[in-house]
This record gives sequence, structure tokens and C-alpha cells, in this order.
Amino acid sequence: MIRIGSFTEYERKYDQSIENPQEFWTDYAEKFIWHKKWDEVCTGDFETLGVQWFPGAKTNMSENCLDIHLDKRGDHTALIFEPNDPQEKTIKYTYRELHTEVCRFANVLKKRGIKKGDIVTFYMGMIPELLIGIIACTRIGAAHSVVFGGFSAKALADRIQDCNSTTLVTNDGSFRGAKIIPLKAVADEALTSCPLVQNVIVVKRTNVDVSMKDYRDVWYHDIYPDVEDDCPPVSMDSEDTLFILYTSGSTGKPKGQVHTTAGYMNWAAYTLKNVFQVSKNDIYWCTADIGWITGHTYITYGPLLNGITTIMFEGIPTWPDPGRFWAICDKHEVTHFYTAPTAIRSLQAMGLSFVEKHGLGSLKVLGTVGEPINEEAWEWYNKNIGKNECPIVDTWWQTETGGIMISPIAGITKTIPTFATLPLPGVEPVLVDKKGEEIEGNPAEGNLCIRNPWPGMTRGIYGDEERFRNTYFSAYPGLYFTGDGARRNEDGFYRITGRVDDVINVSGHRIGTAEVEDAINQHTSIVESAVVGYPHDIKGQGIYAYVICTDDVDDFDIFQKELVDLINKQIGPIAKPGKIQITKGLPKTRSGKIMRRILRKVAEGDTSNLGDTSTLLNPDIVDEIIKGANNI
Ligand code: WTA
Repeated sequence: MIRIGSFTEYERKYDQSIENPQEFWTDYAEKFIWHKKWDEVCTGDFETLGVQWFPGAKTNMSENCLDIHLDKRGDHTALIFEPNDPQEKTIKYTYRELHTEVCRFANVLKKRGIKKGDIVTFYMGMIPELLIGIIACTRIGAAHSVVFGGFSAKALADRIQDCNSTTLVTNDGSFRGAKIIPLKAVADEALTSCPLVQNVIVVKRTNVDVSMKDYRDVWYHDIYPDVEDDCPPVSMDSEDTLFILYTSGSTGKPKGQVHTTAGYMNWAAYTLKNVFQVSKNDIYWCTADIGWITGHTYITYGPLLNGITTIMFEGIPTWPDPGRFWAICDKHEVTHFYTAPTAIRSLQAMGLSFVEKHGLGSLKVLGTVGEPINEEAWEWYNKNIGKNECPIVDTWWQTETGGIMISPIAGITKTIPTFATLPLPGVEPVLVDKKGEEIEGNPAEGNLCIRNPWPGMTRGIYGDEERFRNTYFSAYPGLYFTGDGARRNEDGFYRITGRVDDVINVSGHRIGTAEVEDAINQHTSIVESAVVGYPHDIKGQGIYAYVICTDDVDDFDIFQKELVDLINKQIGPIAKPGKIQITKGLPKTRSGKIMRRILRKVAEGDTSNLGDTSTLLNPDIVDEIIKGANNI
């Protein structure tokens, strides 16, 4: 069992993990229930793309999340559900109760004909049945694909069609602050273009009216009473798909990241335990949504694999007031709190009065994830939430990595504001320059790559091996390219500087510029568009859209609203541009490529050094764009 308890131990384990990964991972993996042990710990490499962890072994994720704890800790609280409305009752599940619920859900799925190898899409609010439902899939060997409940019908349909999913689990609606999101209605619209989906299971939550299509749609509560409390876990191969999760990339189509069973299981459990230094009575709260990878690894699998208590929160940080997070921390005596910089910045902007009402005395460790945290937000978090006594783990990782890669180990690694600090044992980061040469020595700055396979890594983009190779393994042969830039200081501590590709990180959500451009270009008066990020005080980055129109726009407000509506329809409100600029042209190279570097600089308001513009096809356009930007 790996439990890093001191910095010397960190260093020792780090060396072991690189020199002898077999021994390192054998040690760790012993803690799980295996139906059959592995032949080898890891085979394959980045060249062949055939990486396998624990090949030959058989296991089951849900059994390791639940059954494994029943004997000794069956009555320990596994899940606390905190509803959107603070007046509504909290629901708690012990490990035994959660086990029963997961088995029942698995039996409902079976009753609807779902079997090993099927892909079940979830489009739900943050209610227990989402967590229960995805674990139920792992129990019967079906893969889950969770689509964030804020995505539009079109985005949901794209994600269902891409993996040929035949089953959808959804809600009538979901509560978010003062709003009700009509999930079933959106799902119905999506399903008009998904003929393969013959099976829709609807979990009642908001009681809004929904239409139910005969044979295709069933209420969960209609089947639930007729199923049994137990369901045997199916034996899965280590490399069987556990789930698919879509991320935006730098081209239009979202990428279905494929995660597999045994490697991900080890990575989720190991990273949570060590980074956060949890012990068995801790109450762990990650505020993410299960629609994102953070909610998969650090609300669902990581905490349950470790047998601790995880909190699932349905609502939003600012409703009914901006003290909600802190009220929940006190109410449930949260020991570990993990959130995103954008949430910290937005709560910081609301003033301290919402924090001061709450004692926050139970907190031991704070975490952040999703985007670079600025120093001011880090200091605010440290002083006002952690009372200068809780280590902050600034955890860098990605949907593709499955779990945390670079992060302090709470209370053990020295923290520096804005630094994700050091790689976890098992992770070998490399910085490369533009030519692809590795930069050795410190300090250094370059593109961040990883040298060796790790258990939690994505095994592919669903149905598109070529894109998988091109996106991650072709820029720097032999290395995994993260798409991020990073700096390393004199002591080898890493600071992530942000994306270096055409991906914008808005409030911790990855949005591909091409996806937004595709949506904007559907407007009949738009000839061409280019989308870049710009610095935003709360969201980290906002979306800046440059658009060329066919005619003069008479009423800019109406035009802007039409564009926002289009984006809502195509992607969802998270992709709404903060700034739209109409321009007569875009800076292009002689080969017709848009020079985004210039557009980014203008959007950032930094036009002092635009570099060489003389090679542009249309250098005059730059001045016009700068002038236009000043008027926004
Ligand atoms: C960014 C979220 C700086 C980064 C887990 C990465 C971060 C992308 C950090 C992945 C951090 C995540 N500091 N940047 N601590 N954590 N990022 O796939 O650009 O939603 O590539 O996974 O978020 O976002 P994703």
C-alpha cells in the first residue's frame, strides 16, 4: 500500500515509481479485489498506442467501490446528498445502502436489456441516481458516457451518435439555483436525431411535465420496486472500457476519451489518497459536476474506492446566497474541500460577509483544479477559507489523464501560490521547446509533455485512432503532449501557464474555438469568424469572437442575441461569447491561414508588440481590428 507520509518518502517513492514501476504498482494494486491477477503490470508504449495496465487481470469497479467495505465499514456514510434547496432534507447513504441502490439500478438496467459492452449515456442533474447509475453500469460491465446537464440538445445528440449509445438515462428536470432545467424536453429534441436510442430511463426529480414516448421511455420509479436488492458484479478485463467522456478539442468535433477499468481504478484511488492525505473518517467534498472528469474521479470513484464519505451537491455556489459553499462545509463538517479557481474568484468578488458567518473549523485540506489559479485568488482562499492552516493542493490534470498528475501532497510538499509544484510518483513530466527538443535543467519554460504511460491515461479517442495519435503523440514523438504550457522554477516546481492550442478554458470548462466558430458560422449573415480567448476576472478566460458579416448589421443587440441563441442551441450557455466584434476582414497569411496570435493579442488588449505583420495578405486589417476592439 502506498501512503506517502513525508517528503523523504515522496522522493523515495518517486524514484521507485520511475525505476521500478512494476514493483511500485504491484504494491498498490494488491489492495483491491481481483477475480484474476495480472500477467504483467504494464505493456505497450506511446509509439504503438497499445498501452495496457494490469493485462490479463479481471476485476470489477463497483465491487471495489462498495462490496469491499461492507464487512468492516458497511454502516459508514458513503454518500451525502445536499439538495439545491437548503430547506430540503439532506440524504445520507451508508456503504451498505449505496450498495443496495447500485445493485437495484443495475437490475433496472438489466431489465431494460442493457448488458456488458453497451454504452449508456447519462444526461442528468446532480442527484444521487447519477452517481448510483454510473456505478451500476460498471457493475454489469456497461460503459457510461455522462453528458453535462448544461449542454444543448445538439451537443447531447452529437455525443450520443458518436459512440452509438443505445440507452439514455435522464431526469424530468434538474434544479440549479432558482432555475429548473427541463432535461427531458432537451433530451427529446436530441433524440429526434438519434434513432439508435430505443431505451430512455427517466428519473423523477422536479415534477415538471414531460412527454413519455411509448415503449422507448420508462420511469425509473416504475421499474425500481420490481427488482432485487442484489446483483452480482460482472468480471471485467483490465482493459475493458469503463467509461467514455467527451472533451472539446481544437477541431470542431468533441473527442470521446476512453478510460478502461483497472488502470483508472488504481489511479483514481491512489491519487485521491495521497494528494489529499485522506483518512477513514474524513468528509470529502469536490464541488464539480459529474458531467466532467473531476466529478467522475473525485466525487465518485476516488472517494468510494478509499471508503470515505463523499458529498454530492446539486446546486450552485451563489444560491440562495454566496455563502452556500461555506454553509455546507459547516453543516457536514467537511474536512477536504476541492473546487475550481473560477468559483473562488466569483465568491471572493461577493465580499467577506458571506464567509464570516461560517466557522469553517472542520477544514483540513483545500484543493483547486481546472485552470491556472491566480495569486490573489490563492491568497484569498488560503487566508479566508483555510485560515492559513490548510494546505492548498493546486492539482494539474486533464480528462485525458484520468486523475491528478502534478500537485502538492497535502501538508508534505511545500506550496507556492500558482504552482502545481511536483509530479506524483508515476508521472514523468518533460518540457520541450518549439523544435521539439527536451529542455533540461532549471529554470525552464516550454510545452508540457509526459514521458511514460501511467495507469489512468486515456486509451483512445472513441472510434478515431488517427486523431488520438495526431492530437497527443505526433507533435513530440515518443511523448504524450498535454496541450499546456508550463514553467519550471529553480527547484523543479511546475507552474502551468495555460493552453497552447486552440482550446479556451472558460470557468474551468474546455471549449474548442472551432466548435464555437462552427456554431457562429451557421448565422445566415456571417461569412467567417475567428474565436480566441481573452483574460476574464472571474472566468479566467472569456470567449472573444471576431465576425465578418455579409451586410451591415442594423441592430447590433438583436444580432448579438441571435448569435448567443445559436451558440446556446449548438453547444450550450457555457460557450457564450463575452465579446463580439464585427470586422471587415481577419488577418491572414498568404496561404490563407488566420493569424490567431494577432487576434489573441488584440483581445488581450496588448497591441504593443504584434510581431511581424508584413507577411500578412492584408496587413491593413490589423489597424482596423485594433480600432474596432477599442470600441467594445
Ligand atoms: C487546465 C480538468 C492550471 C489545463 C481536470 C488542462 C489546469 C485542462 C489545472 C484540462 C491546474 C487543469 N492549473 N491549469 N491546476 N488543472 N488545468 O480536461 O489547461 O476539463 O489541460 O480536466 O485544464 O481540463 P479538463
